[in-house]
Parts: sequence; C-alpha cells; structure tokens
Amino acid sequence: MTEQSPALDNLLTESRSFPPGAEFAGAANVGPDVYGAAEEDREEFWAEQARRLSWDTGWSRVLDWSGAPFAKWFAGGRLNVAYNCVDRHVEAGFGDQVAIHWVGEPGDTRDITYAQLKDDVSRAANALVSVGVVAGDVVAIQLQMVPEAIVAMLACARIGALHSVVFGGFSPTALRARVDDAAAKVVITSDGQYRRGKAAPMKANVDEALAGAESVEKVIVVRRTGDALEGATPWVAGRDVWWHDLVDAQPAEHRPEAFDSEHPLFILYTSGTTGRPKGILHTSGGYLTQAAYTHHVVFDHKPGVDVYWCTADIGWITGHSYIVYGPLANRVTQVVYEGTPNTPHEGRHWEIIQKYKVSIYYTAPTLIRTFMKWGADIPAKYDLSSLRVLGSVGEPINPEAWIWYRDTIGASKTPIVDTWWQTETGAIMISPLPGVTATKPGSAQRALPGISAKVVDDTGTEVPPGGGGYLVLDKPWPSMLRGVWGDDERFRDTYWSRFAEQGFYFAGDGAKYDTDGDIWLLGRVDDVMNVSGHRISTTEVESALVSHPAVAEAAVVGASDPTTGQGIVAFVILRAAHTTDSGGEDAVQELRNHVAKEIGPIAKPRQILIVPELPKTRSGKIMRRLLRDIAENRTIGDVTTLADSSVMDLISAGLNTGK
Ligand code: WTA
Repeated sequence: MTEQSPALDNLLTESRSFPPGAEFAGAANVGPDVYGAAEEDREEFWAEQARRLSWDTGWSRVLDWSGAPFAKWFAGGRLNVAYNCVDRHVEAGFGDQVAIHWVGEPGDTRDITYAQLKDDVSRAANALVSVGVVAGDVVAIQLQMVPEAIVAMLACARIGALHSVVFGGFSPTALRARVDDAAAKVVITSDGQYRRGKAAPMKANVDEALAGAESVEKVIVVRRTGDALEGATPWVAGRDVWWHDLVDAQPAEHRPEAFDSEHPLFILYTSGTTGRPKGILHTSGGYLTQAAYTHHVVFDHKPGVDVYWCTADIGWITGHSYIVYGPLANRVTQVVYEGTPNTPHEGRHWEIIQKYKVSIYYTAPTLIRTFMKWGADIPAKYDLSSLRVLGSVGEPINPEAWIWYRDTIGASKTPIVDTWWQTETGAIMISPLPGVTATKPGSAQRALPGISAKVVDDTGTEVPPGGGGYLVLDKPWPSMLRGVWGDDERFRDTYWSRFAEQGFYFAGDGAKYDTDGDIWLLGRVDDVMNVSGHRISTTEVESALVSHPAVAEAAVVGASDPTTGQGIVAFVILRAAHTTDSGGEDAVQELRNHVAKEIGPIAKPRQILIVPELPKTRSGKIMRRLLRDIAENRTIGDVTTLADSSVMDLISAGLNTGK
C-alpha cells in the first residue's frame, strides 16, 4: 500500500472544505484547544472525561497497560452503568424529561421519561434476579427496536449480567451459535415483529434456535405483534414467560450495586474475514466514558435542548454505543424508530424529524444513497430546519453522497461528522468535531482528542502526507475491546500480531493521508484490489461511478485476471430515469470512460454489469464476496447473512438474460 499509483492522485482532487459557521463554533461543546490539552497528558484527559460519570469508588490508576493487549482503565474504580444512564438524571431533577420518543412502525408511539425509564429498568432488573440471573451471567437479547430492548440491556447492566444482543434479522442458526458460545442463561425476545407493514414471527425462530440449547433456563417474551400475528405464539411450558407477566409484577425499586470498572458489560458478535463470528467483549468504566464523551463532542449534544436520532439497530455496536450507553449517560432526548425507512412511505424519516424536531441525525451512507435514489423531492416536502448536526457511520461515505446529505438534508449548512470506528473500538475514534473542524466530503479526518491513529506501511512505518497504507491505533483507548469471548489467542492474532513489534492495533482498514495530514478511509484492506501492481480501492472506483449522474449505487470487486493480477468488475444500479436503456453498451462504455476520467485509465473497470439490486448484509454492508463469486464465474457462496437472499437470484437472472 505504500506505492500509490500517480494516476490515483486525483482521488485527492476532492478538495472542497466546509469550515464551521461562526455561530455554531461559538456555542460548540469544545473548541480547537481540546486537541492540545488531550495531547499534553492523555491519561489526565481521559480521567477528566471519566469524571463526567458518577463513581461509587474512585480509580487508583487511569490506565494499567501492563497486561497488554488486555487493558485496564480506571482500575480500582467502581460504578453502576445503568445508574449512570438513568437514575442519576432523575436524582438531578430531570425525571420528567423525555428519554425516548418511541415510534412504532404501524404508527403507535410511546414517550418515556427518565423517571419512567428508571422504574422500567428497576422492574426488569428485579425480574432477571427473580429468574436466577446473577452478575457475570450472560443474557441473550433478540428483539427489534422496541423500548423493552433498551430496558433489557440496562437491566442487565444494572445487575452486572452481560448482554449479548443478536440482531433481530439473524437466522435461528446464527442465534444458536451465539447463545452456545457464551452459554446464555436467559433469552429475551418478542412474539413477532413488524416488517414493512406485516407482522412476522420471531418467537417461532427463537424456539427453533434453542431446541436442545442446554444453557438456556428462561425465555422472556415481549408481546409486540399479539393478534396481528397468525396463530398462537409457540410456547415451552416452564421455560417461557411473558415479559408483562414477569416484569410488570416486580417492584419499581431496585438498588444498583457498584461493579468494578473492568466488570464485563456486554458481548457483541461480529464477523471477521473468515470463520465463525467473534464475541467482542466490552467492559464498564472505560467503555461508558468514551461512549459518553464522544457522543458529547462529536454530536455537540446539549442535554434537554437537542433531540437526537441514531437510526441504527441495537443489534449493532452503533445501537449499543449511540442509542443506549453514550446518549443516555448524557441525558439525551432521543427518537427510537421501530421500522424501515420506506414504511408506509419513503418520507418516513423526514416526517419523524419534522414531528419531533430532531436536531441531531446519525445514519449510514448506504441509507443516504438510498434516499438519493428515491429522490430529493421526498425530503423537500418536510420541514427539516430543526437539524443542526448530521452524522455518518459504517462505511466510507463517497463525496457525492456527503454533499447530497449536506445540501438536501442539511440545508447546505449543517456540519457532517463522518465517524470512523468499529465494534472492537467500542466508540468513535476518528471524526471531525462540528464547530471545530473544517469538514471535507469523504474524509473522517482526524483522531479524536485523546485518541491516536496512524497510517503505516507494511513495515509499520508511518507514511508521509499524501501516502497510503494501513490504519492502526497506536495507543490504548478507554473503550477498546477487552478480548474475544473465550478466545484470547484469536484476539491476539486478529488485532495484535500484524504489527506486534510496534504494539499497534491493526484495524483491517486501508487509509491514506491527504497533504494536510487528514485521514481518508479506503475500505477494508481485503477489498483493496491490485491491478497490474497498482493498488486501487474498491471505494475509489465506486465513488467515481456514483459521481456519474446516471448511477444510483455501485459496488466494485477485484476479480482475478490472468494478465493484470486482478481486474476491476463493477456492479451498477442506474437511476430510475436511466433504467430504460440500462443494458445498453453505451451506458457501460460511458461509465468506463467516466471512471478513467475521474481516477485514471488504470482504474477503468474491466467489466461493468448493470444490476437491479446489490447484495447487502442486514447492517447494510455490500457483500463483495458474493459479487466476486459472480465476477469470477464461481458458484455463489454462503448467502445466509444477506438481508434478502433472493437478491443474488435477481442479479444472476438479469445477467444470464443479458440485462
Ligand atoms: C467500516 C461500525 C469508513 C470500517 C461502527 C470498519 C467505516 C468497519 C466508517 C467496522 C467510516 C465504519 N468510514 N469506513 N466512517 N465507519 N467503517 O464493526 O471498514 O460494524 O473497519 O462498526 O466499518 O464495522 P462495524
């Protein structure tokens, strides 16, 4: 990655920059001096952030790195995470503030205040204790975006049990693997969930998953779809209990116990490049400190004033850190929405923003590009003037989507924070600070105060400005993973062996510095192509394709090529207005030339296939592996993690008929 082709230099022709407005900067939670202060004494800086929380016992040491790569932050300190997210706000007189404006997909709503949340979490904590859950036990949660999901997570935290949230769309096999790996004692789920206007069963899948699962003693079932679902909810007598029967009967008082700062908080499974999913382990004090701090500065969140909305699902790390822990620790008022963005219509998000006067909106590039595809006339029908900060997470955001987001949703003035981080990092690591950073479309820019990231070459040497390489984190951070559940060796191997000599954490992402030293993420290193010895990121080519007005979405893979090593194969969805001549050679030729023009002739795709859909995981990531299978004429591999497995048939059918 050290040698960037000169032809790729014009990726850096993206030179637009948007300084913060004076008014925003004047009122921002932090100013430019924050970086220097953090640099001066990182440990003292993080200690100061940890003081944002309420501790029962102070720590004796900010960072104990003697057992590296297993960190201990705020060693000796004790706190209760749920108390910090709920009770202390009530004690401070904010019991009547709405914590959650919940919006159900069918249109039902619930507003939950901090006082109510405290009662709900206390009851749920008592309920878990009543079925035998003790500190250190694992509770698996497979729930859609209902308030009970958040209550259940906080109830676990309150009693020191670990939650392992499993995305609602995961198959029974996937759920079972996670339940077994962590020997979950209790599973919390629902009878069914609303998806695109229909009630779909959930409990039936959970039962299928749990057949013969020895560790599971209780299954607690939230009633959500009720009679909307056909047939009775399958029930295992003695094991299953309704949430409302168990939880509602509990007292609303529960005294939170303080746990060690390093007490495990949760496990969250994430897929690696190969093999079975890894249970990423996070602990209490450091995780909550960084989740809360980053939510405070990256979104410039003002408690009691802002209305915040993170559109993630609690099945992913973004839902953990930026719906549950960070925001609630900061006394947020937030929207939680149960459904899909186009149910019952494509303006649903904008309607919600208008209704609740959402001021901070945090979403993913894939959704932004979908909104672009649906058209700017849809958001134009709503009053979005309450928005003042827009965020992006999950994948590199191409400059076109970034600009569209800013112009169309952010009235051409809202700062955009492109936040880079991972399940493993626990919280945001690289991001602009609104009010401080002059933002650049497509760049996450700079490690946050107190965080250190570098772009290095194969040998671990930092590359100069303008150079590209691997992203590493060269200093421990409070919310870093504390291991892979039950597999210390995998933890060391995956993250710490690549640059063992230097002790760097290997993120698995390619990145480059621009000439200002700002960081641009280029996608996973496994997605980097090598064409005739030139390294080209799939992201770069995608970005070029998407910058063509006819292109709605594009995914690029490197397919093995006898002459050039790899050849670039692009899968492209055309915009509605252009689909009539979608199969036309003209469109394909024009796009190839366009890429050549944007990046250089070496980046010209060998092949461009016009397709109706792209295969995506449930978290919205394009599954390039499957596209590589098509590009290399292989039998298509495992499609079980696709959000919609019929997409591959659709693509293949289109290609076979020459469309
Ligand atoms: C990618 C999601 C570019 C990256 C929080 C990382 C990004 C992986 C960005 C982690 C971003 C996330 N720009 N790439 N702003 N944010 N990524 O664990 O490849 O689901 O390694 O965590 O997503 O995905 P995960």
